[in-house]
Amino acid sequence: MWLMKNYIKTDEWNIIEEGFDPHLNKISESIFSLGNGRMGQRANFEETYTGETLQGNYVAGVYYPDKTRVGWWKNGYPEYFAKVLNAANWIGIDIIIEGEPLDLNTCIVTDFRRVLNMRAGYLERSFTAELASGKKLKVNSLRFCSMADDEAGAIRYNITPLNFDSPITVIPFIDGDVKNQDANYDEKFWDEVQKSSFTDSAYLTLRTRKTGFEVCTGMKVTLSLDGATIPFESSSVERDKFTGLEIKQLVNTNQTLSVYKYAANLSSENHPEGNLLDACTKVVSYVTGKGFEKMLQEQAAAWAKKWEQGDIVIEGDPSAQQAIRFNIFQLNQTYTGEDSRLNIGPKGFTGEKYGGSTYWDTEAYCVPFYLATADPQVTRNLLIYRYNHLEKAIENAVKLGFTNGAALYPMVTMNGEECHNEWEITFEEIHRNGAIAFAIYNYIRYTGDESYLQEYGLEVLIGIARFWAQRVNWSANLNKYVMLGVTGPNEYENNVNNNWYTNTMAAWCLQYATDALELVKRNSAGQYDALINKTKLDVAGEVEEWQKIVANLYFPEDKDSGIYLQQDGYLDKEQVLVDDLRPEDRPLNQKWSWDRILRSCFIKQADVLQGLYFFEDQYDIETIRRNFDYYEPRTVHESSLSPCVHAILAARLGNLEKAYEFYLRTARLDLDDYNNDTEDGCHITSMAGTWMSVVEGFAGMRVQNGRLVFNPFLPGKWSSFSFKIGFRGVLLTVKVAKDKVYISNESAGSIDISVHGQSYTLSSNSNITAVNELKQ
Ligand code: BGC
Repeated sequence: MWLMKNYIKTDEWNIIEEGFDPHLNKISESIFSLGNGRMGQRANFEETYTGETLQGNYVAGVYYPDKTRVGWWKNGYPEYFAKVLNAANWIGIDIIIEGEPLDLNTCIVTDFRRVLNMRAGYLERSFTAELASGKKLKVNSLRFCSMADDEAGAIRYNITPLNFDSPITVIPFIDGDVKNQDANYDEKFWDEVQKSSFTDSAYLTLRTRKTGFEVCTGMKVTLSLDGATIPFESSSVERDKFTGLEIKQLVNTNQTLSVYKYAANLSSENHPEGNLLDACTKVVSYVTGKGFEKMLQEQAAAWAKKWEQGDIVIEGDPSAQQAIRFNIFQLNQTYTGEDSRLNIGPKGFTGEKYGGSTYWDTEAYCVPFYLATADPQVTRNLLIYRYNHLEKAIENAVKLGFTNGAALYPMVTMNGEECHNEWEITFEEIHRNGAIAFAIYNYIRYTGDESYLQEYGLEVLIGIARFWAQRVNWSANLNKYVMLGVTGPNEYENNVNNNWYTNTMAAWCLQYATDALELVKRNSAGQYDALINKTKLDVAGEVEEWQKIVANLYFPEDKDSGIYLQQDGYLDKEQVLVDDLRPEDRPLNQKWSWDRILRSCFIKQADVLQGLYFFEDQYDIETIRRNFDYYEPRTVHESSLSPCVHAILAARLGNLEKAYEFYLRTARLDLDDYNNDTEDGCHITSMAGTWMSVVEGFAGMRVQNGRLVFNPFLPGKWSSFSFKIGFRGVLLTVKVAKDKVYISNESAGSIDISVHGQSYTLSSNSNITAVNELKQ
């Protein structure tokens, strides 16, 4: 759209950059990021780099409450904006040759190649450098964050002199003297607790200010020369929050010195504070004992398992193949679902924007991906995260004047407390409460695990329903309940009345909570009674009120044109279309004043359409079409979360070309730096939307009455696409070709499905071939 970059080489399993362009470095640092759910990092160089770089290492769950910066404080503002912390840099290995540092910013770089191997989960970089003195050397580095030992990572750094014999000084280090680029007051957030170093290892423990998290980072180094392990001496290099080992080793022309660096990051979230150093020493010794090759093999095996259930294969379009794998790879690097205290920041471990906090993105966009491609426990942990924050959500609501256990979940959070930094735009997006309830429904619809309701879900639904019941008010004027002063998903208009999406969500939540109460009462009377007792729900009175609201809530609508109005007064706006905008006016958020954006009819992201996507079954196809045809030409998609919803709806409407066009807008968003912002980090949560575009859009997959239903079509450029889906204990492979759809069941159980309206039963290890013909 704006300035699309196109320097990543096409390859089906690898992301490849060839040639070193310092202008692209920060973009590449984001794209080639590594992570294992527990920790992650940008693709910074191991050796010194004095050029433009955003150094980033992150440990999941370790954050800092950075004091909010606002011009005029108002009651209800959160005290802080949480930030996942830029943590100790454990990848650093400085190289000095007879006084000259190796620094790609100051030497001549040739044969530069950076590869992110997505099949096996590692980052490899090679280059030849010519220093000012004329000395030439070849470097090859390979590193990964281990999926098998998720507190550990390892690096193999090979140096080969090409035209000199001399001692090379190698300084592997841990540097905790780092800060967040986006710190509100330019503060540093870490204090040193201890550091220690030995001949081949070093440890540094840091503590965060205010939150008091401790993280111990350790490293152990081994060396080999042309493949044979060699002993070495070292002297320690220490400064504040920094510990390193200086090692000198003679290396002759064409010999290869390999520096192996085994590292670990342990946080006080997972280990008792007093025991961190000891525990870190053990992890470092354990992985060093395993050795690099074994760790690498285990890494490949762990990734093979992820690909087994999560891969999408696209035939006939290598660039699309690369893109979809990149999206799936990054999502799996960000969240592995083993720890219900963790969640998915919009930038994952690839940058600092959005503070690494949890947004509605998780429930609205990421849940479908993890439901289909991972064990149900992974999504369950995402739901439990919110369950564990229920008390805080109730406190958040109390701060705003709500009572009686009403829960308002935060729009931006680390630990359940609201920590957004904008009132009208972010805070007023109370629709997030609806997405959280919808995710419970979605999880149960997909897995059939109704027990989740009585164990956890219903309590959350009651809190959310109570919030909506108090948030609406009776309008004597309209003779209806109304909801005033909200911001819908479209952030380009704030503090609106009766946002159709929010009202729809509210009514749905109230109804779902009512139905869930009935269900739990039927399924588990004991748990039902306990819950009523715990929440002090006045079943007759409160539920009756919920039902009154459901029956009498106001939904803005234009009866003449048959469209739902995004909010009251939307039609008063000058109705122009995105096509009427001059290219130089876009993106609006960079070119127009905020005032002008707020007054315009332009929509940032799916809003009414987001509701039609969630509740597709409740609307006839013509209603969806009318609204799509109305809103799509007014939407600028300046949130990366927008195109996927449009792709899915366009596919549902049979507008296959449009569906593909929207899919293209997110599939390579980061790889081609489509929005000119990849250097800040990758759009991790919208990557789940790309997956949705393929599976829910092109394959038309839905869960209806506990059954998987497919209405696929094949994008014209592709010769076929296939994907794996885990559903209720069964693993299916679905392959969509031009005229045929092939589905195989590789598991022990049997499953009923439908393809283009035709029902099939797939027993264990069987397959079917269906005609691929899209009916509307
Ligand atoms: C979008 C929000 C989203 C946030 C984080 C914003 O630009 O408008 O819907 O939650 O980014 O991804």
